[in-house]
Amino acid sequence: MKDFLSVSSCSTDELLELLDLSDTLKKFYKKGNRDLCLAGKSLVMLFEKPSLRTRMSFQIAMAQLGGHPIYVKPEDIGGIGKREPLKDMARVLSRYANGIMARTFAHETVLELAKYADVPVINALTDWSHPCQAMADIMTIREHFGKLNGIKIAYIGDGNNVARSLAFGCAKLGMKIVIASPRGYELDEKSITRTNEIAAGTTVQTNNPHDAVQGADIIYTDTWVSMGQEDEKQKRIADFKGFAVDSALVSAAPKAKIMHCLPAYRGYEITDEVMESQNSIVFDEAENRLHFQRALLKKLLS
Ligand code: CP
Ligand code: NVA
Repeated sequence: MKDFLSVSSCSTDELLELLDLSDTLKKFYKKGNRDLCLAGKSLVMLFEKPSLRTRMSFQIAMAQLGGHPIYVKPEDIGGIGKREPLKDMARVLSRYANGIMARTFAHETVLELAKYADVPVINALTDWSHPCQAMADIMTIREHFGKLNGIKIAYIGDGNNVARSLAFGCAKLGMKIVIASPRGYELDEKSITRTNEIAAGTTVQTNNPHDAVQGADIIYTDTWVSMGQEDEKQKRIADFKGFAVDSALVSAAPKAKIMHCLPAYRGYEITDEVMESQNSIVFDEAENRLHFQRALLKKLLS
């Protein structure tokens, strides 16, 4: 395993190893211990989009492992792939740093970085996927339910990068996901078919959120307007009417845990009441971004 580009490109064993290491290091660090396995090593962090969780958790995880994170805004380097070809940037950075992480619009950008870099490349979100988020989510689910096998997620909203990574995580780790989206915003057919080839019956797509939450262990949602879709905001808000995770929807699965990758837009995809409810585990989920990424950095860079 050189890079971490998508959940779909990892084997079940690799994903389980990362989850186990995340749990082990979480306990180890909570006790006040420190593992300085990345002393003297550097991670270059390239961002084309804003970030709170991903940036901070990678930066802090890197520092906690004794390493040195370097945050790079697009304007610092004249744009990713703009001032010079990506393949040149990947090879230059490989001569300086021990790893590259990137948050980009096009998924092809991280694929090309990985192709030309000699050091590990980590996908920190692209328009196509958000694998670090999905793995922290799955870590959180395993903590709360004590298992993954047979868990049913109802994902309400946009069939986007987060939904796709979660669906592949479900396929590889024994869970099921029902995705309820308005017409025109479903997860692409190819991803649905592929997850169902990996494990039959993993992903079901519906246009009815009330059907989706029946028997759900988890109700998950994400923004209706992903980064880069700001021009479509008004149209999306109109098109997603009826897909908010609110008390009425949650009452059909009263024991279900509530998850959201954050940032959350209260009053749109989720209400404040549901965000703040007893069943909400959104901040455990956000915390686990740090624990998963610490394990990922140790595995790839040490
Ligand atoms: N969930 C997530 O990736 O958050 P940020 O965009 O703040 O990194
Ligand atoms: N789907 C969202 C996730 C943000 C963490 C986006 O891509 O903007």
